[in-house]
Amino acid sequence: MVVATRSLLTGLFAGVLLGFLLHLVLPLYQPALEDTHLRVSTAPETFSPTLADMLRNSLQIARGAVRGAAYKSSRVASSALLQTSSPLSSATSNLNTEAFSTSTTKMASQKPFLQAIKDRRTFYQLNNTAPISDKRIVEIVKEAIHHVPSSFNSQSARLVVLLKKDHELFWDYVLDVLKPIVPEEQLPSTQKRIAGFRAGYGTILFLEDPDDVAALQKAFPLYAHHFPDWSEHTSAMHQYCLWVALEAEGFGANLQHYNPLIDRKAAEHWKFPVEWKLRAQLVFGGKVTDDAGPKDFKEVEGKRLFVHGADS
Ligand SMILES: Cc1cc2nc3c(=O)[nH]c(=O)nc-3n(C[C@H](O)[C@H](O)[C@H](O)COP(=O)(O)O)c2cc1C
Repeated sequence: MVVATRSLLTGLFAGVLLGFLLHLVLPLYQPALEDTHLRVSTAPETFSPTLADMLRNSLQIARGAVRGAAYKSSRVASSALLQTSSPLSSATSNLNTEAFSTSTTKMASQKPFLQAIKDRRTFYQLNNTAPISDKRIVEIVKEAIHHVPSSFNSQSARLVVLLKKDHELFWDYVLDVLKPIVPEEQLPSTQKRIAGFRAGYGTILFLEDPDDVAALQKAFPLYAHHFPDWSEHTSAMHQYCLWVALEAEGFGANLQHYNPLIDRKAAEHWKFPVEWKLRAQLVFGGKVTDDAGPKDFKEVEGKRLFVHGADS
């Protein structure tokens, strides 16, 4: 009898202690998300939500949903969600632990959003080194394709990431298709230019799926003539996001357009539908120099930018 009572009391005490500990632990996941390299804005209240904010919101919604569901223990269910079933949680925890960079430039995790925008330039002199792991590159691309917006949320963008040997092969193919059509006297300079891209570490192919565009045209005939333009805008948003993101990690990058010449060869070799429209190629690699060269700027205020109604 005494033994039974003692066991009951021990069990009760352990249960209360476990519940209390879980209560303490759960909120700790949130700051961890805010620390990821994806949080590049220093003005979160005034800017639109960062990717990390969106991840956090998704998790909050998921946690709320789980709490509301008829589980025996909502605590256990939500902690299980955070630990195992959410691809977001595993991705972000990896990002936390693997936030490293061998680059001398500031890492994305420390860089304010506007600074990352300013630092993005066209870098042509690249080598085949990488300041971050391939895994991290892929994580960044995944986050971008997941969260960059598209017209009517069409999600028409398709990205193909080519690294190292595959990147080199892509530029070999580009030279192959150019050789028969470039005038002989221009061939040496073309070869030099392509060799410059090939010397980099990777290339991201930005494609758009025309099926998604056609589906929107069918669903919204009133806007049908806009959707091809908006597909271009959608692709451009992905291009710019990744250009800035990769440079914020210490890569140099430049944007190229060897489409549609290379579309068929690339589709055949990397086995994606030939109907997908290649819109641009983002070449990236280690920076041979931090100096992107001079850049002219047109006057902004009163010439390119017009503000009305702002407090002075
Ligand atoms: C829509 C777009 C298309 C571009 N196409 C090419 C291109 O085909 N080849 C190239 O070398 N650079 C291309 N660029 C790079 C621009 O020439 C470059 O961004 C511009 O001169 C400003 O220099 P910055 O990137 O150093 O700020 C393109 C840029 C944009 C935004």
